Amino acid sequence: MMNCDDDALLKFDIPEIIYGRGALSGLGHCAERVGGEKIFLVTDPGIIAAGWVDQALKHLKQEGLHCVVYDNVVSNPRDFQIEQGAQHYAKTGCDVIVAVGGGSPIDTAKGIAVMATNYGSIKEYVGCNLVSHPIPPLVCVPTTAGTGADVSQFAVVLDSQKKMKQCILSRAIMADISIIDPIVLQTKPRELIAATGMDTLTHAIEAYVSSLSWPMTDPHAVHAIELVNEHLIMAVENKHLPALEGMAVACLEAGIAFSNAILGAVHALAHPLGGLYDLHHGLVNSVMLPVVVRQNLSHAEDKFARMARALGVETRGMHPSEAAAHVPERIEALINALGLPKRLSELGVSREDIPAMAQMAQEDLCMLTNPCIYATSDIEAMYHEVW
Ligand SMILES: [Fe+2]
Repeated sequence: MMNCDDDALLKFDIPEIIYGRGALSGLGHCAERVGGEKIFLVTDPGIIAAGWVDQALKHLKQEGLHCVVYDNVVSNPRDFQIEQGAQHYAKTGCDVIVAVGGGSPIDTAKGIAVMATNYGSIKEYVGCNLVSHPIPPLVCVPTTAGTGADVSQFAVVLDSQKKMKQCILSRAIMADISIIDPIVLQTKPRELIAATGMDTLTHAIEAYVSSLSWPMTDPHAVHAIELVNEHLIMAVENKHLPALEGMAVACLEAGIAFSNAILGAVHALAHPLGGLYDLHHGLVNSVMLPVVVRQNLSHAEDKFARMARALGVETRGMHPSEAAAHVPERIEALINALGLPKRLSELGVSREDIPAMAQMAQEDLCMLTNPCIYATSDIEAMYHEVW
């Protein structure tokens, strides 16, 4: 297990971040500043329908930039779609990639960027630090407060043959600039704000107890948990802009924390559910979070006790184990308040798939930094507990 007391080297990388109401208006200047003349804008049809792509194109064209829009993007982006996008990118002669969207368009944009300069198949880059050539300049405009893909060195790609979600983890795929405009979050449906908010909470919790966490990542993780506790319900209930801003910063800080400290067993167990059933990533994280946290509690007791305070529990006078035990309870209360599903059976998951999913979860990159090691039978038991 690696921590900052070991000899292991730790790192802290983040993109340039531009944050605030109306930040989207700076997109053209940012794209021009990283060398853009012809922009490959990756998005999805929902973002186009919401009007944000028209806004983005207006700001890009105001700087005299030419633009190509690529919107063949689905939730849980597939390997072949990324390769199709890369072929399109190569034909257009674009020089900068701009992603406008949630995790799926941003991950697709990262995959296209990898293929633009590294060739072969996208599957060859699944794993740690396998992207050797620098990608084209990449500017992200996140439209959800959840994935943190705009500030992370992760891209998740679905292997369409194996139906497995797999992680590409490399410093080389980090965006140059992230433009975070909370106003953009106002057009999201409530269910999506809730599910992506739970993804943010999962990022912060997993990063905080990761075996690669360190003093540069911990404050961001704890603050993200405090912000989710303060703002998520209000953001979902009335889309109040200050609450959406709180969630935008929570997503940003959780993204900074997990990009540098990596994740854990919740993500490892959620990825097979996304791969096999095409379920929303935030939703499956939310279902798996309480059961995994309960199993992890004794392996990072002091940190879970600190987390209880961040979640609003008055922990003075409590033993750390007592304080820590409040964390899964608080998470379950939040899930109840948001009205999110609590069982895999509600999401159409078949019990027969649990052994195969447990095997996939065991092999997932995110499992490596969980605060403890699980046998495959332990993972099966966790799936059964929430089925
Ligand atoms: Fe996530």
